[in-house]
Amino acid sequence: MSPSNLFAKFCLLALGFTLAPHPLTAAPATSAELIPVNTARSQMTLLVGTDQRLYQLAYGSAGNSPAIPAKTPGRDAEFYPQAGDGFLFEPALLAVHTDGNTSTDLRYVSHTVTALDSNVTLTRIELKDSYYPFHVALNLKTYRNEDVIEQWAEISHDEKGQVTLERFASSSPELPGGNYWLTQFHGDWAKEGQLAEEQLTFGTKVLDTKLGVRAHQYRTPVFLLSKNGPAREDAGEVYGGTLGWSGSYQFAFDVDPAGKLRALTGINPFNSAYHLARHQLFNTPKMFWSWSAAGKGQISRNFHRWARRYILRDTGQLRPVLLNNWETTGFNFNEPKLTALLATAHDLGAEVFLLDDGWFGDKYPRDNDRAGLGDWQVNPRKLPDGLGYLTQAAHQRDVRFGIWLEPEMVNPASELYHRHPDWVIGQLHREPQLQRNQLNLDLSRPAVRDYVWKVINDTLAPNPGITYVKWDCNRFVTQPGSFYLKPDEQSHLLIDYNWALYDIMGRFATNFPNVTAMLCSGGGGRVDYQALRYFHTFWPSDRTDPRDRVFIQWGYSHFFPACAIAAHVTRMNERPFKFTLDVAFSGALGFDLDFAKLSPDEKAEALAAVALYKNDLRPIVQQGDLYRLVSPYDGQRSALDFVSEDRSHAVLFTYQIASGPADTVKPQGLDPQRHYRIREVNLAVGTASRLPGQDTVVDGATLMRDGITPACTKEFDSAVIEFTAE
Ligand code: GLA
Repeated sequence: MSPSNLFAKFCLLALGFTLAPHPLTAAPATSAELIPVNTARSQMTLLVGTDQRLYQLAYGSAGNSPAIPAKTPGRDAEFYPQAGDGFLFEPALLAVHTDGNTSTDLRYVSHTVTALDSNVTLTRIELKDSYYPFHVALNLKTYRNEDVIEQWAEISHDEKGQVTLERFASSSPELPGGNYWLTQFHGDWAKEGQLAEEQLTFGTKVLDTKLGVRAHQYRTPVFLLSKNGPAREDAGEVYGGTLGWSGSYQFAFDVDPAGKLRALTGINPFNSAYHLARHQLFNTPKMFWSWSAAGKGQISRNFHRWARRYILRDTGQLRPVLLNNWETTGFNFNEPKLTALLATAHDLGAEVFLLDDGWFGDKYPRDNDRAGLGDWQVNPRKLPDGLGYLTQAAHQRDVRFGIWLEPEMVNPASELYHRHPDWVIGQLHREPQLQRNQLNLDLSRPAVRDYVWKVINDTLAPNPGITYVKWDCNRFVTQPGSFYLKPDEQSHLLIDYNWALYDIMGRFATNFPNVTAMLCSGGGGRVDYQALRYFHTFWPSDRTDPRDRVFIQWGYSHFFPACAIAAHVTRMNERPFKFTLDVAFSGALGFDLDFAKLSPDEKAEALAAVALYKNDLRPIVQQGDLYRLVSPYDGQRSALDFVSEDRSHAVLFTYQIASGPADTVKPQGLDPQRHYRIREVNLAVGTASRLPGQDTVVDGATLMRDGITPACTKEFDSAVIEFTAE
């Protein structure tokens, strides 16, 4: 042993360490190896260095595949950096080993590349600590045509005892040199999906949530990173990222002193230390990335196509037009009132009638939001003939029947709470904090999981006529304690909760494949691509004023396809009816109004609108490609178009949000060679189109170059223009 080694050993012993430090011998040099992770247009290239560490050489254009460098890269280029053994910045992993060692030193063991089908390939890289039997498998799944890369980590160990995970990123790529502009999508109840963009500078910018459940209340787990300038729709290098996790998450954008950006994403490590037993597997949630050199519009189209193909349920089926009763009745309904509304669903041409909150609770009836959650028995005073009667009434009118559930929650004023006060999430010795008069049920407790599943099963199994569910979740966690978990497992609560939730959602989707499902969390409090695997649509916001919906739907459209974004026509703030219809057309159309109370003109417009949507617009909007044309953040109007995959049919929407001169809008995505008939549709009763070029035929190239000029000048003017190839 060299004198300096001896000295080091002496110092450690003097400090009370009994373990021998690692001998300072270098690992045998092996040859370096590239691991390319490719999609059609993008590539991420990893390198196994001669030191057996895993590095990242590139993420960006498929045209720039790097070669093996002459010299092993610096530690700052590690792909999944670990804390405690030489890495200087934000680590992806921090593990405390059974002997208290807070460092990890992962080295490459092996990797496999498996083609799952002609479009999807899984690259799995096994890493192991150089000393401890501690393993990390990094998984990279590529979706070739959609340019999406999915990443997650699987962590396990064979140490004698518990290893504590303090940090556990899903993904932590370094984005190549340049200045980056970060766009986040923040908000609050009734104000979801708002864009804010800023340039990243040195240090760590953290976007996170610590709310555990309804965790996206203030921020959806999505972001854009645009290189060398603010993100543009149709040009420039942009990375889009979204995490499939409904709980607390953290995005940390770390710009090191050399100006290099690392984007760490995953479960929020805050108050979430996870004690991992021997052989237990810790899975991180999935992180989804897409890269494009053609701006954020292409990033959106990549995610939309990918979500329609791989994530959302039944995207081959068009989303039904539904009529909801919430904004019409609130909690105040009975059987005759609902039956009358049901009849209007049929008159309107709606395909589903969705009965919202308020149908349950006996001893503690759900007549307002102060009671009843937890007691999922029909309220016999409101609905004396039960759900079967309503489903039949709907069936007789050729309308499907749907129901609202909020199975994860309980009101203290409920039989459930009186039976099981310890089933809630809360802290010992603290006054329970209510939100909307309710508490979260503790899904880490097996009996609660069984109960929540039973609520769903007992509602749906005996009532096969219920073929639609709106799954709501109206509060977040402010006292993250479990009366079930042991003291040293308390920090597991919010992680275990969300995996248990997915398990129940999965059972729901598997056992009731014919039930269409809407994900809701007081609006957009839970919108992510893990939860959405079990749903068809989500409810973006309780704010249904179409003026605000222009912004909210614009925001969500960056990552989520229109077929998933429920958009209802309501009378909130009594906006002009045509504008209200036109805004809802650009999502999965529904209604939440009393059709019988509309004026004769409005009734005629609603009927014509439903027919137009069902016969013409629905497949283009729900299955086509979106082009955002004019941002509502830039001026008085917003415009977007959807183009069918074969480019034979397109529809353009323009919404005037303030008065201003008529302006030309240039559609995108058309086939330049083909000729399209231009037709303004959905005209208000008694009006004719004032669109120059109405009912003429123009080639796609001219249309996209010269645009069209809808006669929209006043606040709430709007136009819907179809292009049909001839
Ligand atoms: C939440 C939902 C609403 C409605 C109410 C019912 O706020 O977002 O759409 O279902 O709950 O209480």
